[in-house]
Amino acid sequence: MLKVSEIDAGYGFLQVLWGVSLEVHEGEFVALVGPNGAGKSTTLRTIAGLIEPMAGEISINGDPIGGMPANLVIKEKGISYISESLNLFSDMSVEENLLLGAYTIRDKAQQKESLAFVYDLFHRLAERKSQLAGTLSGGERKMLAIARGIMSNPDLLLVDEPSLGLAPNLTHDVFQALLKLRDQGVTILLVEQNVNTTLHITDRGYVIEKGQIIMEGASKKLLNNKHVQAAYLGI
Ligand SMILES: Nc1ncnc2c1ncn2[C@@H]1O[C@H](COP(=O)(O)OP(=O)(O)OP(=O)(O)O)[C@@H](O)[C@H]1O
Ligand SMILES: [Mg+2]
Repeated sequence: MLKVSEIDAGYGFLQVLWGVSLEVHEGEFVALVGPNGAGKSTTLRTIAGLIEPMAGEISINGDPIGGMPANLVIKEKGISYISESLNLFSDMSVEENLLLGAYTIRDKAQQKESLAFVYDLFHRLAERKSQLAGTLSGGERKMLAIARGIMSNPDLLLVDEPSLGLAPNLTHDVFQALLKLRDQGVTILLVEQNVNTTLHITDRGYVIEKGQIIMEGASKKLLNNKHVQAAYLGI
C-alpha cells in the first residue's frame, strides 16, 4: 500500500533522512522506532506531504505522492496523519473537533456514520461530546486526536507518539484503540518511544537511527534482537 523508497529529506539545508526506505502493506500494523532526534517524525511528515523529499519516491498503491501537498495527500489518497502536537481546537467541543476531521466527507449521513464509529471506539468521547476540547484531560485529548484522525475513514493512519506524556493506564487505552482499528482493517504506521509495548502489538517494525533505517523485521524478531534489547529495552 505505502512504499517509501530511498528518501532523503530535511529542513532547509539540514538533511535529516538518508535513503530511508520502508513499506506498509494493506492491513498491516507497522512500527517505526528509534531514539530522540533519529528522524521518526520527519519520516511521517514527509509521507504526509508536509515536507518535500530532496530525493527518493513515495507511492500509495503504486501512485507516486512524493512532493504532493499535504491537503491532497489526505483528501485524495486516504491518509490520515496524527501529529505529536495534536492540533486540537481548544475552544471547540469534542464533536466540533471530530466533524472537522471529516471535512473531506461532504455527505451528512456519512459524517454521522463516522461519528457513531468513533464514539463506539471511544466511549469516553461520546460521554463528553459537548465538552470543550481544551478542558479534556491529556489522555482524552490524545483519544480525541486519534478519533478525529479516523473521522475521514482513512485507509492509512500515520500516528506519531500517541503514548507521549500519558500514564500507563491511558497508554494502554490508546494502544487498545489502535489495535481495534487494525482489527477493523485500518493500515497503521506507528511511531513510538515505548518500544517494548509497541513491538508487542505490531506486526512488523523498522528501527531508525541517525536518519537511516538500520534494521527491519517481524516485531517478535526485533524483540529478540540483541541490539534492540540493549538500546531500547534495557535488557
Ligand atoms: N522544523 C525543524 N527545523 C529544523 N530541524 C528540525 C526540525 N524538526 C526536526 N528537526 C531536526 O531533525 C532531526 C530529526 O527530528 P525528528 O523530529 O524527526 O526526530 P524524532 O525521531 O521524531 O525524535 P523524537 O523522538 O524526539 O520525537 C533532529 O535533529 C531535529 O532537531
Ligand atoms: Mg518525533
